[in-house]
Amino acid sequence: MERTFIAIKPDGVQRGLISEIISRFEQKGFKLVAIKIVVPSKDFAKKHYHDLKERPFFNGLCDFLSSGPVFAMVWEGEGVIKYGRKLIGATDPQKSEPGTIRGDLAVVVGRNIIHGSDGPETAKDEIGLWFKPEELVSYTSNAEKWVYGVN
Ligand code: GTP
Ligand code: MG
Repeated sequence: MERTFIAIKPDGVQRGLISEIISRFEQKGFKLVAIKIVVPSKDFAKKHYHDLKERPFFNGLCDFLSSGPVFAMVWEGEGVIKYGRKLIGATDPQKSEPGTIRGDLAVVVGRNIIHGSDGPETAKDEIGLWFKPEELVSYTSNAEKWVYGVN
């Protein structure tokens, strides 16, 4: 089943939004298969955001990501990569729709509280960067037959 990497950035953790964000993914019907809370080093943040290294905000972004605890997660479900990004909303919270996480809970692009992988390759790379294989838990949740149906 498809998996994606989702991280609550230091602003989301400090603002007490962990449970709110978990709820949105959980209530949708996605399954949580890994979590950890960690303060990433700046070097680690640079690895995570390596594809943005030419952007003017790269250094500030990496300083910010390494400024406090990040709540890292792996979520599993049908279409979770793409739909996870929908739940999160547009990068700039001024442009995120109401009803999305950034639309409802954030105001500026530099403090947009959450990260989500933007495609299957990135999801695989980011899960591998943040988690060891044995930290990912495979299980069948009781809800699955109700979320997906069975025959
Ligand atoms: P992530 O899920 O965090 O990767 O966001 P995204 O995929 O919606 O956007 P992108 O990967 O392009 O940018 C990564 C992060 O860089 C964003 O979440 C913002 O926090 C930050 N960022 C993007 N564009 C800007 C910008 O124009 N200014 C500033 N200050 N930060 C930006
Ligand atoms: Mg991105």
